Amino acid sequence: MRTLVIIPTYNERESLPGALERTRQAVPDADVLVADDNSPDGTGAVADAAAARDDQVHVLHRPGKQGLGRAYVAGFQWALERGYELVVEMDADGSHRPEQLPDLLARAQRPDAPELVIGSRWVPGGAVVNWPRHRELLSRGANTYVRLALGLPVRDATAGFRVFRADVLAALPLEEIESQGYCFQVDMTWRVHRAGGRVAEVPISFVERAEGVSKMSRSIITEALVRTTVWGLSHRTRQLAGLLGRR
Ligand code: GDD
Ligand code: MN
Repeated sequence: MRTLVIIPTYNERESLPGALERTRQAVPDADVLVADDNSPDGTGAVADAAAARDDQVHVLHRPGKQGLGRAYVAGFQWALERGYELVVEMDADGSHRPEQLPDLLARAQRPDAPELVIGSRWVPGGAVVNWPRHRELLSRGANTYVRLALGLPVRDATAGFRVFRADVLAALPLEEIESQGYCFQVDMTWRVHRAGGRVAEVPISFVERAEGVSKMSRSIITEALVRTTVWGLSHRTRQLAGLLGRR
């Protein structure tokens, strides 16, 4: 199936070349789109140089830092306009190992394939390597909260290593998505689930980056907490209204 791997970047000059090389080796048939937010460190030029050497590598230059969610939405639209059938999300920093992509893609191409395949840290067989303890606690806590608030049957809803079927993306109102930070991942999972799409998790080992720094911030955490709570309250209100209506 025609596959596009989208790699969002913000200041990933050191990490990006390795991620691109490993991705091209691991899944040679897939095309790659780097979605760069005009990184001050020149990541956009590094991506352009890679694209000049390899016609399966493309670059989407965005005007400035608008968050992971906006970069992915633009990448999804780019993919849909060009007729890709599978769309992959992957971080640039090596935390998502391109060598595990064939596993995810295989799951997404089975006859009973789900609409969304998540590379999951928190299912049996999944792991995190070298992640600071506070990040592990944050991720586990966030996922527990998401599961309780939304009733979402997913262990790693915040994960950023995933494969969407393009027809599902085409059916979602992408331009309405407001999530900017990492809660975009929860938002997308929730939308696929509510649209009746199936979500499957494949275990991965997430390896903490060797170069550069995380873009996680207090505002990203706050946005995720606020949005998840709002989604949860409206979901529970709808459930309650449904129960009362049936009486
Ligand atoms: N274009 C663009 N714009 N890219 C961004 C932005 C942005 O505003 N913010 C972050 N990125 C890119 C980074 O350059 C990297 O390629 C990827 O998004 C992930 O960013 P990291 O900063 O490395 O995230 P992390 O390692 O702290 O967070 C991990 O855990 C999150 C929560 O589970 C990642 O796996 C995230 O994908 C995940 O949501
Ligand atoms: Mn990272």
